[in-house]
Amino acid sequence: MRIGKWVVLLACCSSIVWSVEPGEQIEYRKSVMKTLDEGVVAYQTALKLGAPQSEISRHLKSLALTSGQIKKAFEPRVEGGYAKPDVWKKWSDFSKRADAQSARLMQLSELAASGPLSGGNDPKTALGCSGCHDAFRQSSAKTASSATKAAQTADSIEYRQQLMRVIDAQTSAIGQILSGTIPEDNFASHLEVVSLTASLASGAFDRGAPGGEALPKVWQEKARFLRTMQDFSENAIKASRTARQDGKDAAAVMVIDALPCRQCHDVYRRK
Ligand code: HEC
Ligand code: HEC
Repeated sequence: MRIGKWVVLLACCSSIVWSVEPGEQIEYRKSVMKTLDEGVVAYQTALKLGAPQSEISRHLKSLALTSGQIKKAFEPRVEGGYAKPDVWKKWSDFSKRADAQSARLMQLSELAASGPLSGGNDPKTALGCSGCHDAFRQSSAKTASSATKAAQTADSIEYRQQLMRVIDAQTSAIGQILSGTIPEDNFASHLEVVSLTASLASGAFDRGAPGGEALPKVWQEKARFLRTMQDFSENAIKASRTARQDGKDAAAVMVIDALPCRQCHDVYRRK
């Protein structure tokens, strides 16, 4: 059974939720939010590290796509978590905020592709995080958010770990959709964010900085490692395009190959 294969394939990864329970939809929208959270921190670290402008642009695109996942993640009216009932009572306000954040980040991504953003284009103003949280998230929510801690260090090892956590959060969402408990609307978008983030990880590892959980083998066999990471990115975008054109089921068979988490970790990551 395909789901069984998934469990084996993804058993590596920390935050994946497999059990089908009423909280499934809440877990799903938290995965989307977690992606945004880690994504913002990774973006800030990329700026501090002086990453190439093409990477800054990809960060912003990834954040724009993730913001675009918010609406479908909250649309099913499942009260709970830290969401206020106002999310659904004032749905048009809620969804406008999500749309605005996504559209502005996409614009900034295009601007960033041709050069550093100037003061008036500070992405902070595009991030409607706290405005939406103030209106729609209970104030009792634990703000154990990574973004509120912000990226304080320009640490290359931290950076690639942040990128891996973005991939991890999106993979949880993909797993939930494949297990059939969550509607497939965001499926192609999740795969695209994984692809973009894997391409960023490729750049991050390429720049060196041995350490963390990465085995020395990463740099001893750098060409092979980077090829694996780039294949990962390319296969994920192919699966995303198939999902967009032909739906989830057509793409599901590709996803097993598109997400070689465990194959790579077995060889290149300290256990
Ligand atoms: C359109 C509204 C909206 C926007 C925009 C938004 N959030 Fe959220 N966010 C929410 C709501 C509602 C919740 C509570 C979800 C729940 O508990 O069910 C939440 C929860 C979270 C959580 C907690 C997740 C968890 O595991 O419990 C984090 C972290 C987070 N958001 C980060 C961000 C960041 C970072 C941004 C900006 C880049 C952002 N959010 C933008 C509405 C929004
Ligand atoms: C091409 C190799 C490669 C692929 C493919 C890959 N990873 Fe990783 N991953 C690594 C390496 C290497 C590390 C250790 C990074 C470090 O600590 O410096 C890592 C670390 C992680 C971490 C730990 C991050 C942290 O907080 O320290 C998570 C979670 C993770 N990967 C999830 C995934 C998931 C989910 C997938 C598949 C969808 C995936 N990875 C695919 C190489 C890979």
